[in-house]
Amino acid sequence: MCKNLVIIGAGGHGKVVADIATKMKCWDSIRFLDDNKSITNCLGFDVVGQISDAIKYRDCSDFFVAIGNNNIREKIQEDLIRRGFKIAILLHPSAIIGTSVDIGIGTAIMAGAIINSSSKIGNGCIINTNSSLDHDNVVGDYVHVSPGVKTGGNINIGRLTWLGIGSVVSNSISICSSCKTGAGAVVVRDITEPGTYVGVPVRRIVSDENSDSSKF
Ligand SMILES: CC(C)(COP(=O)(O)OP(=O)(O)OC[C@H]1O[C@@H](n2cnc3c(N)ncnc32)[C@H](O)[C@@H]1OP(=O)(O)O)[C@@H](O)C(=O)NCCC(=O)NCCS
Repeated sequence: MCKNLVIIGAGGHGKVVADIATKMKCWDSIRFLDDNKSITNCLGFDVVGQISDAIKYRDCSDFFVAIGNNNIREKIQEDLIRRGFKIAILLHPSAIIGTSVDIGIGTAIMAGAIINSSSKIGNGCIINTNSSLDHDNVVGDYVHVSPGVKTGGNINIGRLTWLGIGSVVSNSISICSSCKTGAGAVVVRDITEPGTYVGVPVRRIVSDENSDSSKF
């Protein structure tokens, strides 16, 4: 692990990520990169350049991509991995992680989250505030589990899927890649087609091609 951390993305998610990194006390310095030149500071840390400046810090820093949009986060992190950057894992001290849990690089586990035994969380995931994933969950790469989500045991969540705030997923359910569930959605049957799903129990409202990721 390096002494310095560079966080890519100085927005709201970047703030939460910097707060976790501070509390972990693993890095002497924290810096941000962001392509929005009007942002010069995030949570008291300097924004020192744009994403294209990452190379200047590659050999002396760990990196973390703090961008909420799953597809953009994947694109940037996979590019960093290909180019040999070291990618950190961020784990809030109040998160509870069970025995035999695997957590992939570039994943942030936020305050109060619980991940129970034998679950596997992929690369570049966001396991957000107070979410609870029970035993033997398999969460694909670049998934966002929003605040307050609850899943039962033996869940499979495909890559790039976004579970909206407060969603509930009953035990032994599979959700395919590139799905979105709305706020408060309840999933009681497998979801096999990408798209946006809302309600109790969920119904599909738009096809994946028409969905607007900015709504999340
Ligand atoms: C699911 C979601 C993305 C849909 O947004 P949208 O595409 O703009 O959809 P609309 O607001 O046009 O709603 C379409 C229909 O779905 C319904 N709907 C939307 N969200 C719903 C929800 N969470 N639960 C139940 N119904 C919902 C609307 O009432 C509307 O129904 P109607 O056609 O009968 O009038 C959005 O409502 C949502 O829930 N986002 C979650 C945000 C979140 O979790 N943020 C966490 C950040 S960390």
